[in-house]
Amino acid sequence: TVYYGPLVNPKNLHEYQALPHALLGVSSAGIIEWIEPDVPDSSVLQDVLVKHGYTSVEDVKIVELRRGEFLLPGFIDTHTHAPQFPNTGIGQQYELLDWLQNVTFPMEAKFADVAFARDAYKRVVRRVLDSGTTTCCYYGSLHLDATKELANIVNDAGQRAFVGKCNMNRNSPDNYVEASAESSIADTKTLISYINGLTSTSSGPPLVQPILTPRFAISCTSPLLSSLGSLDPSLRVQTHISENPSEVAFTHSLFPACASYTAVYDTHGLLRHNTILAHGVHLTDEELDLIKTREAGISHCPTSNFNLSSGVAPVGSWLDRGIKVGLGTDVSGGFSPSILTAVQHASIASKVVSLNGGGKDKGPFTGRQLTIPALLFLATLGGAQVCDLASTVGSFEPGKAFDALLVNTDESAGNPGLWVAGESSVETRLEQFLFCGDDRNVKEVYVQGRVVGGTAFRARAS
Ligand code: GUN
Ligand code: ZN
Repeated sequence: TVYYGPLVNPKNLHEYQALPHALLGVSSAGIIEWIEPDVPDSSVLQDVLVKHGYTSVEDVKIVELRRGEFLLPGFIDTHTHAPQFPNTGIGQQYELLDWLQNVTFPMEAKFADVAFARDAYKRVVRRVLDSGTTTCCYYGSLHLDATKELANIVNDAGQRAFVGKCNMNRNSPDNYVEASAESSIADTKTLISYINGLTSTSSGPPLVQPILTPRFAISCTSPLLSSLGSLDPSLRVQTHISENPSEVAFTHSLFPACASYTAVYDTHGLLRHNTILAHGVHLTDEELDLIKTREAGISHCPTSNFNLSSGVAPVGSWLDRGIKVGLGTDVSGGFSPSILTAVQHASIASKVVSLNGGGKDKGPFTGRQLTIPALLFLATLGGAQVCDLASTVGSFEPGKAFDALLVNTDESAGNPGLWVAGESSVETRLEQFLFCGDDRNVKEVYVQGRVVGGTAFRARAS
């Protein structure tokens, strides 16, 4: 298949490419084969295609974009909780630890019922895909069977994802806690084998992969953390860190021998290049140095950080330190499944930091508001780096998978907020989509070349 039309391609934190007339070839296995950055005249299409080995225009399926449409790499959600989706918008009067006890654990406990889980997870995965998230890092509940179901549903839907069951064997309610470190590890190993046995793709890494998910240090005993840390080091790890001051204090009291919250994960073998740390609002300079040294990444979850009154994360200083950063929705700490909302709140959070002033001498990002190129990067390629997937997804490059969104900013999308965007430059369309767009503007969602979501996909399905 060949796509012909405007294309937006993130490059780094400082710039993205906006190509009004690009041509992009995708193999039948869903891999990007070539990109022609500028083909303004469709009369030369034939020549360009012949150059790339096709015998004629009739040889190829050409998808020509319409007015107001452009291609964008799919969004990467580096942190969300599938069993918390039924709670979105509920319970934001609490801070973290009370919210977990009163709102979150009671909901997650319901996922002991596999039929309940299946019904909920089908809605979750459809909603996340239609929001434009092509790669998602999912926490399940602590239940093995329900989390297998989540992996099945993600796999059947064709989403790229990491799926883990929570490890939690202490400081949790009686009806929602694992019996022992041993049973937690046994269930984790069973889930890993199960996910690795799901059908894989014809090229590149399998779409759905397992991920170790120690909920956070508070909910895991030291032996449980050590056992997780000694499993296969190629497994990715996702956990929470320094989200809330009471959480940080409680963690220090549970691990008095560790120099810091970050040191807790480090001493248990869980701080490494494939670790995704969510929040990090209250990390110290020493902890950030350690995270940088270990090449772990941070999932910035601004919607949740505002919603649970956790604080405002100093993302600019992370970027100036060269720490990998992506965005997370953190449903239901965050109240939106869309990375667009995370982009908007990341922008606002950076402006709050800049209003408070200071640190501007430390580099281009510290103490300053995030630019559009930086926000786009965090939502795509930055997230891919955090997931250790940057050689597979995050931008349009030959050899990478075609994980993409066909965005429609035309009035025909039915979003009255974007009524001028369709007539504008690609840059303006992108900016208005990021700040005023929603799932109505996500027309097609592609994962490895396959259409798996979007408004047009849903219209065809119904
Ligand atoms: N810390 C431990 N568990 C959770 C959770 O489910 N959500 C958030 N936001 N923080 C956590
Ligand atoms: Zn979370």
